[in-house]
Amino acid sequence: MKLYNPGGRGSVMSYAGLLEKIEILSSTLRWASRLERADIEKLLRQSHALRDEVMQLSHKERFVQAATSDAEPVEQTPGERRQALLARSFVFEGTFGDNPKLLDALEVAEKAAPTDLPVLIDGESGTGKELMAKVIHANGSRADKPYISVNCGAIPDNLLESELFGHKKGAFTGASNDRKGKFESAHKGTIFLDEIGEMPLTGQVKLLRVLQSHEIQRVGSDEIIHVDARIVAATNKNLRKLIEEGTFREDLFYRLSVIHVTLPALRERKDEIPLLLAYYGDEAAEALKRRPIKMTPRLRDFLLNYAYPGNIRELRNLVYRLACLAGETADIGHLPEDIRPKAGVPQASLPETMASQAIAPSSLSDAKRAASDEAERAFLERGLTEVGGTVAELARRCDMNRSHLQMLLKKHGIHSKDFRKPRPPQGGAGA
Ligand SMILES: Nc1ncnc2c1ncn2[C@@H]1O[C@H](COP(=O)(O)OP(=O)(O)OP(=O)(O)O)[C@@H](O)[C@H]1O
Ligand SMILES: [Mg+2]
Repeated sequence: MKLYNPGGRGSVMSYAGLLEKIEILSSTLRWASRLERADIEKLLRQSHALRDEVMQLSHKERFVQAATSDAEPVEQTPGERRQALLARSFVFEGTFGDNPKLLDALEVAEKAAPTDLPVLIDGESGTGKELMAKVIHANGSRADKPYISVNCGAIPDNLLESELFGHKKGAFTGASNDRKGKFESAHKGTIFLDEIGEMPLTGQVKLLRVLQSHEIQRVGSDEIIHVDARIVAATNKNLRKLIEEGTFREDLFYRLSVIHVTLPALRERKDEIPLLLAYYGDEAAEALKRRPIKMTPRLRDFLLNYAYPGNIRELRNLVYRLACLAGETADIGHLPEDIRPKAGVPQASLPETMASQAIAPSSLSDAKRAASDEAERAFLERGLTEVGGTVAELARRCDMNRSHLQMLLKKHGIHSKDFRKPRPPQGGAGA
């Protein structure tokens, strides 16, 4: 049989080139009707050589080259990048935001999704790692196949193997029936290994074996079962640090992180807090069957500057809490006590622990962004005043996509109807 020839292409190492080599190797395997031992050894050597090449690309190079391999000729604004993803029918699964770091992550996800390469997602708690895993699944060819999620941190060590690989009846006390594991359930689809940093070393060894052979054995059974599951793993731990500490296997890290996506903390995408407040405000109102709450300026100010250690999940929970506890208008007093600033104490003189939760507009880029946000807000308000609150008309005048304009209004918490009241009716129908 004819085997894939690794030397047949140019020697310049590029991400796209490597991906192609890996794909060729996979299809050699996929279409092979029979492989002699010598062929298998040769393919193994080739796959190891490929892995070494991938690992020679630093994390940064892998990331940057994945994001730029189509070499966009012009630099796009975040809005244009999102629109471009939309135009390419990218499935966002409810992920929103125009922060450049988030868009970087989405663009890497877009490129990784159609491949079967393992993806490692990291980021602080509540930054959207699970959501990103669903995005990768939804944009790939396995979208209509199972998506199975496993929380590696929540399974006791002695049950992990059975949970992942299944067991045979009688394999251990309590194994009263044959049972499929998560890997078998994810066959042809995606398995999401959440909190991979919590997996005990014994489980890591077994996982490594599956990654190498694509085969599993149920606990208590000799039968070898082939599984074809795309692996996406996530962690809020620094795996490199765990490797240094000896609690995470380096070889497993490299196998899992062929594509590495890091999600930004909310304090790094502070510009999107207004949009998230508006979005979850509406969502909470709908869920609790009430009118959206208003916020006092000092509460709004607090929420715009709080550091959100629990990221988007914490922001969402806070908004739901406010919607549940407040009457028409929410104030500082509706916040959980542990994060609530003391009444009358200016932010600057807060105790150190609390002050550290607020973000100072420290960098020039933060200051620029704040100024640009302010200009954007003023532009929208002035425009809406001119057109008497008619969003469609404003979109037409500014030559802007109407849904993008709606999103900007939402981001700034601007309601077009507020611009209709003070003006005499001039025939504008609002949007
Ligand atoms: N970019 C985003 N747009 C909209 N919602 C988001 C976004 N990122 C996260 N969320 C929402 O925030 C919440 C937390 O997201 P998710 O569970 O994916 O985080 P996580 O990183 O897996 O957290 P943890 O580390 O605690 O498991 C979910 O409700 C999710 O829908
Ligand atoms: Mg999670």
